[in-house]
This record gives sequence, C-alpha cells and structure tokens, in this order.
Amino acid sequence: MKRVDLYFLLLATVLLICGAILGIRMGAQENFQLVPVHAHLNLAGWASLALFGLTYRAYPQLAATTLARYHFIVSAIASVLLPIGIGLAVLRGQPALAIASSLLWLIGVLMFLAQLVRLVVGRSETRTIAAAE
Ligand code: HEM
Repeated sequence: MKRVDLYFLLLATVLLICGAILGIRMGAQENFQLVPVHAHLNLAGWASLALFGLTYRAYPQLAATTLARYHFIVSAIASVLLPIGIGLAVLRGQPALAIASSLLWLIGVLMFLAQLVRLVVGRSETRTIAAAE
C-alpha cells in the first residue's frame, strides 16, 4: 500500500474535524457529557493516526509491506468505532462496541510495533523493497 502515509493522514484529519466540531458544540451548549468521545476522536483518532502516517512517511520501506495495509484497515476501523462505542457507553450504557473497538485498536498498535521491530531487525523483505526504490 504505497500511499498508506497519506491515507492515515487523511483519516486523521477527518477525525480531527469531527472532534473539533464536537468540542465546539459541547462548549456552545455547555454540556460536557461527551468529553470522552471528543478526547478519543482527537487522541486515538487524529494524534495517533497522524503519527502512524508520519512514521510511514519517514520509513517508506514499511509502507510497501502487506502488514501496512492490514495495519491501516484495522486502525482505521477501530479509530472510527471507538468514539462511537464510547458515545454509546456514555449515553445508553452500552459498552460492547467500546470494548470490542478498543481491543481492535490495540491490535492495530501491535501491528505498528511489529512494523517498527521489522525496521530495527532489518528483515530481508524491507531491505529488498528499499533497494528496489
Ligand atoms: C476546535 C477545537 C477544540 C475545541 C472547541 C475543544 C473543546 C473542548 C471542550 C469544551 C472540552 C471540555 C472541557 C471541560 O470538560 O471543561 C474539551 C476537552 C478535551 N479536549 Fe478538546 N477541543 C478542541 C480540540 C482538541 C484537540 C485537538 C485535542 C487533542 C489532540 C483535544 C483534547 C481534549 C481532551 C483530552 C479533553 C479532556 C480534558 C479533560 O477531561 O480534562 N481537544 N475540549
């Protein structure tokens, strides 16, 4: 997935906009019940996804791996579902989606860790791709 850095940054920015709109709405209505949703849109969404994207930009050899595609898919789904799940938990007392999506989000981070370990260990796949570029 060659442009995975850009995909991460695009989704991060969409979630930042959602988080900002929710923050403005909370402030305008002086109702802070959804602060955890706002915080996770901005931190699990914007900040984390943007850092993933910038890391793939800094190490382009990682972006060419199959794991990068799965990492994006898992982290993208989880970072969208997590704030929704937290909202359902806060507003309706239904934590199931928050629990499931938080586990999925963690799996995404483990995939990122695997990518970084691959970089440190310098496995042949990344070296071959880097050499071809
Ligand atoms: C237009 C932009 C933003 C607006 C209008 C906004 C607004 C707010 C408001 C009204 C609160 C509730 C404060 C309270 O409970 O008294 C809040 C909390 C919070 N915001 Fe934002 N925010 C914005 C952007 C961001 C960004 C970019 C981040 C992180 C990258 C962020 C992270 C947080 C966190 C972590 C909290 C929870 C703080 C706590 O509970 O102590 N916000 N925000």
